[in-house]
Amino acid sequence: MKVLVAEKIAEKGIEVLRKEGLQVDVKLGIDREELLKIIKDYDGIIVRSVTKINEEFYQHAEKLKVVGRAGNGVDNIIMEGATERGIIVVNTPDANTVSAAEHTIGLLIASCRNVAQANTAIKNRQWDRSKFKGVELQGKTVGIVGLGRIGSLVATRLQSFGMKTIAYDPYITDARFEKFGVEKREKLQDIMKEADFITVHTPKTEETFGMIGEEEFQLAKKGVRVVNCARGGIIGEEALEKAIKAGIVSSAGIDVLVNEPNTTSPLLDLDNVIITPHLGADTVEAQDNVGVTVAHEVVSALKGEMVPNAVNLPTLHHQELEAMRSYLQLGEILGKLYHQLERDAIEKIEIIYSGEVANMETSAISLAVLKGIFEPILKEQVNYVNARLIAQNRGIGITESREIANDNYMNLIRLKIKAKDKEFTVAGTVFAKKDLRIVDVNGFVFDVTPTPYMLVANNTDKPGMIGQMGTLLGTSRINIATMQVSRNSKGQQAMMFLTVDSDVRQETLKLILNVEGILKINFVKL
Ligand code: NAD
Ligand code: MLT
Repeated sequence: MKVLVAEKIAEKGIEVLRKEGLQVDVKLGIDREELLKIIKDYDGIIVRSVTKINEEFYQHAEKLKVVGRAGNGVDNIIMEGATERGIIVVNTPDANTVSAAEHTIGLLIASCRNVAQANTAIKNRQWDRSKFKGVELQGKTVGIVGLGRIGSLVATRLQSFGMKTIAYDPYITDARFEKFGVEKREKLQDIMKEADFITVHTPKTEETFGMIGEEEFQLAKKGVRVVNCARGGIIGEEALEKAIKAGIVSSAGIDVLVNEPNTTSPLLDLDNVIITPHLGADTVEAQDNVGVTVAHEVVSALKGEMVPNAVNLPTLHHQELEAMRSYLQLGEILGKLYHQLERDAIEKIEIIYSGEVANMETSAISLAVLKGIFEPILKEQVNYVNARLIAQNRGIGITESREIANDNYMNLIRLKIKAKDKEFTVAGTVFAKKDLRIVDVNGFVFDVTPTPYMLVANNTDKPGMIGQMGTLLGTSRINIATMQVSRNSKGQQAMMFLTVDSDVRQETLKLILNVEGILKINFVKL
């Protein structure tokens, strides 16, 4: 498979991709026309914040399976287009947060102490101590807008300077404010009125873009100092320019602009603004971290695995994913049984989680179930990202429910699949964290360890059925690894579940189906 690296990532990340046998083409700063021309040949692309991954891009990206965002913000990526096409978008939200927080503090101190301006002056051979008087942080109030990963790191660091920290973030719990020793403010206006310093750490959304504008600056303390190391435009650029010119804002530290790259912003002409060209994450540590993390995620996505930090999938952290791995596998296997055992078009899928699995992020397991259900008929066109959409487009109703406990199993995933007037049921469990078992098919009880090749037969419960099955498979040179038989009541119907060592040909299946008493036989490939 081929991966295009369109923006700079650490060499260590590229090594990870190559070690996995991927063909990696590094074309930094590739022009748009060329990108659109060549992207059809690539399975994956890695970008930072400059490359626009939009509808126009997707229309050319015929083979694309994953977009790796080496960094945090995904505002350059249109998510709907990716999800519709089953393209996984991954990012590295934790890999550069410390660097971004440290850069924020760097900008805050540098701007309120005129470090950059004084440096320029002295390099121009001007020794001027009177022009660059600054202010202390100690005893002042910093208002933090957005108390997420970076906002909270900034808060705790600024507390060590003796600052009072207040924050506005309506989307987090009071416990998070308490955890970081930050006083909650209910409204942005409260921050504007109270803070001596304001720093923004929200994503760029419709709500946050321009959230600090002219009206907000009218409320601010005269001489307030601001920092934006999040996304360009969260502090409106024109509003900031006006507020600086009106003497409301004394200094600003800016790392991000609405249009990037940018060498023409009017903010560049203002003496009390210091600007860095989006350097928040540009440290050796963050870039190594980001590069290696995004490379591993791209590799996992190309292998069709559930990926932590996939933006268009349920959020899973690495540890959580490890704990869930066996359930994801089990869900997918149970799903894969349907179209290999039944033919009818599905109308409704009910997924029931019981026991300890019910406490997990079951929405991810449900995606694995759906991926499993459609894979036998759609092959690689289905993945975790588009599985739910595929079901919806086919008008299939999906319900999920949880039961606290199950009488027989510590954990259980049960599927009830309704098609025409029939209901197909299958259930499985995980023993000792790793041992997967299929324990029920249509009410027949088993204890089968799933393997790549399996045979499932329905037969009349009468003498000689097992023997004939064994003989026919033997003459067709199919080795039986395990065999289990389950019946509902004596002399009625039974089900045989065999795991075998190799593929079973259609002719063999026909021979078995000719045996009197065999009602149905299916070969299942996992
Ligand atoms: P995060 O998701 O951990 O935190 C964002 C916080 O903003 C959340 O707590 C959320 O509840 C809050 N929020 C959302 N909408 C809000 C609103 N309307 N009002 C108030 N709060 C709101 O994100 P993070 O990892 O801390 O990143 C923060 C920002 O920093 C992002 O924009 C990210 O892209 C940017 N970033 C920039 C650099 C850089 O190089 N300059 C590096 C990394 C991240
Ligand atoms: C991010 O969102 O991670 C930062 O803006 C840094 C970057 O884009 O490299």
